[in-house]
Amino acid sequence: MKIRLQKIIADAGLASRREAERWIESGKVSVNGLVVTKLGTLADPAKDDVKVQGKLIPRRQEPAYVILNKPTGCLTTMDDDKRGRTTVMEYVRVVEARVFPVGRLDYNTQGALLFTNDGLLAKKLLDPKYAVPRTYKVKVSGVPNEKTLKRLARGVHLEDSKFKPMEAKVGRVSGKNCFLILTLVEGKNHHIKRVCEHIGHPVIKLQRTHFAGLSLTGLPLGACRFLSTKEIKSLKKLVMNDPAPIKPGRKKRV
Ligand code: URA
Repeated sequence: MKIRLQKIIADAGLASRREAERWIESGKVSVNGLVVTKLGTLADPAKDDVKVQGKLIPRRQEPAYVILNKPTGCLTTMDDDKRGRTTVMEYVRVVEARVFPVGRLDYNTQGALLFTNDGLLAKKLLDPKYAVPRTYKVKVSGVPNEKTLKRLARGVHLEDSKFKPMEAKVGRVSGKNCFLILTLVEGKNHHIKRVCEHIGHPVIKLQRTHFAGLSLTGLPLGACRFLSTKEIKSLKKLVMNDPAPIKPGRKKRV
């Protein structure tokens, strides 16, 4: 979006708008190589090269929001893996903006992985206090009974970790195994694998079908797409209000 040149200079912290206007009038400012002296000239801080006395103001990055249907067999990392394994960045190369993954999926997990360059939104989406939902379709060994599903719904405690309650339903049963549909509001390391192992139903296959309300409908494995304006708005709405702090020692009434 084009805005006034003096605002671009002031936003970059170089001067007040008044001072920037004086610089423009005295021929110290150029846009895409051409000196501009007319006040009120507009430029796009994300696309135009604005220089003050020959010094370039770094281009502002437009926020970008992308969802990838991550295939198995790739690492969720920005850096090239030392062992030469494929990383998720190879699937989002088509996106010009420098985006990074929001959270991670394991090497052998597939499904919804969000990328953005909006650091604040990413931080909030991963913060358990905002209780952002993620849904997994999990092929597990065996078929959990009602009692086990209730355990998941109450929350599971392992020696070193407490896992919050999750919604758990048995989906399709396939021979001796079944698909569980699990919805949780936090994302710990190897979360699903550890919990399922603990309840005696180890994971065979893991897919994240939804993240923060975003779905993979119509997106083939390995493909990515930009989020729609509506999707971006709903992501922001999820983390809009700071939740009330939990007071220590106070039990919540149910
Ligand atoms: N839980 C896991 O165990 N692995 C993932 O990749 C995501 C959630």
